[in-house]
Amino acid sequence: MRATVFGTGYVGLVSGTCLAEVGHQVTCVDVDQAKIEGLERGIVPIFEPGLEPMVKANHAAGRLAFTTDAAAAIADAEVVFIAVGTPPDEDGSADLQYVLAVARTIGRHLSRPAVVVNKSTVPVGTADKVRAVIAAELSARGLPLDFDVVSNPEFLKEGAAVNDCMRPDRIVLGARSAGAVDTMKRLYAPFNRNHERLVVMDERSAELTKYAANAMLATKISFMNEMANIAERVGADIEMVRQGIGSDPRIGYQFIYPGAGYGGSCFPKDVQALERTARQHDYQAGLLQAVEGVNQRQKHKLAELALRHFGGDLRGKTFAVWGLAFKPNTDDMREASSRALLADLWAAGARVRAHDPEAMEEARRVFGQRGDLELCASPASALEGADALVLVTEWKAYWSPDFPALATALGARVVFDGRNVWDPVQVEQAGLAYYGIGRGRSL
Ligand code: UGA
Repeated sequence: MRATVFGTGYVGLVSGTCLAEVGHQVTCVDVDQAKIEGLERGIVPIFEPGLEPMVKANHAAGRLAFTTDAAAAIADAEVVFIAVGTPPDEDGSADLQYVLAVARTIGRHLSRPAVVVNKSTVPVGTADKVRAVIAAELSARGLPLDFDVVSNPEFLKEGAAVNDCMRPDRIVLGARSAGAVDTMKRLYAPFNRNHERLVVMDERSAELTKYAANAMLATKISFMNEMANIAERVGADIEMVRQGIGSDPRIGYQFIYPGAGYGGSCFPKDVQALERTARQHDYQAGLLQAVEGVNQRQKHKLAELALRHFGGDLRGKTFAVWGLAFKPNTDDMREASSRALLADLWAAGARVRAHDPEAMEEARRVFGQRGDLELCASPASALEGADALVLVTEWKAYWSPDFPALATALGARVVFDGRNVWDPVQVEQAGLAYYGIGRGRSL
């Protein structure tokens, strides 16, 4: 089938590439000329395991094209995906200007019946808005064309995007017409083998499904961080509690890891946007506000522990920081907990020596040149001249350091484990003070 994808960000590029991988003819459109030229030469603008070879192979096979020419890309497409960004506007609501601009472009250039698919995370009611914009453009052209709008949210995770997209655990389709569902079924048939993954519903339910999924996962994390804060006050170890509750299949082991707060481009933005949507419908979503509030506080947790350890004064202290990306296997630093930590450390007069396996270039872009930050080429070089070590992102490379060597390197012999990946006993036996998240000994 022929599909066109607007937007070559995480969702658009990965979905477009996976559709080409299973044999569809895909054209990816973006307004960013440099990005499109780069993609044509096989330069993938994001770090995502497995994506680059897949882009190159499908481009070389002639199944995956990149263009800035929206009109040509729409001309013969059977399915047109909208996968552009929905950043938060000033009040935290999702900003729909890019989605609606693409809808206008589609309405201006559509010349055959097509299914328009919303893949971006969009507030409830957006499918109706997209439909209205396309219909208005078509009627201005005097073209009473048939088209359908389908809501098909994406559930891929950064760092595992290709795998998630190739093996989705569900494909949610919000659609009004049986014809549109049929087209989408044909498009997704290669992803829907062995057992039924399609969940068909109305557009509003599909739109809310996406927010509900992210809000539920964010809630699990904030809940555990709340428990961690209680655990450290009552002298319990949240890691034991985590195993104790995760073994109940109704709770499950996933997404109950306490830590320095959740980040990324999705959870913070989507929890806020859903809360704003509720408010616009005269409902105070108190639980969502609390999820957000706990997370904001948690991002400052590591700096709080450091301040407490050093008696409230960090002037003249140097902190080694391991991990800057918002989670392992990505170079993405959007809403990363490391940003809150570094801001707090700097505000308290400390200097930082930081390392991340993938996010160094991004860190240079985010922080710029500053005298109180040294970006270091290896985890070991970040320790040079440091008083303390803080682990913010649990990259595998940080899991088994040589603790006695750390004890020698760190002037103040103290580590702050923001993801509870180290064994406190082993750390303390090496002669280091250990602080984790919600482990009785933290206070
Ligand atoms: C999230 C969802 O997991 C995807 O299903 C969804 O498609 C995506 O948002 C989206 O809306 O596009 P992602 O933001 O890539 O994916 O990252 P996650 O792996 O979900 O992690 C989010 C944050 O939660 C990270 O900062 C991570 O460190 C934190 N986290 C995760 C915890 O603090 N504890 C946990 O137990 C799990």
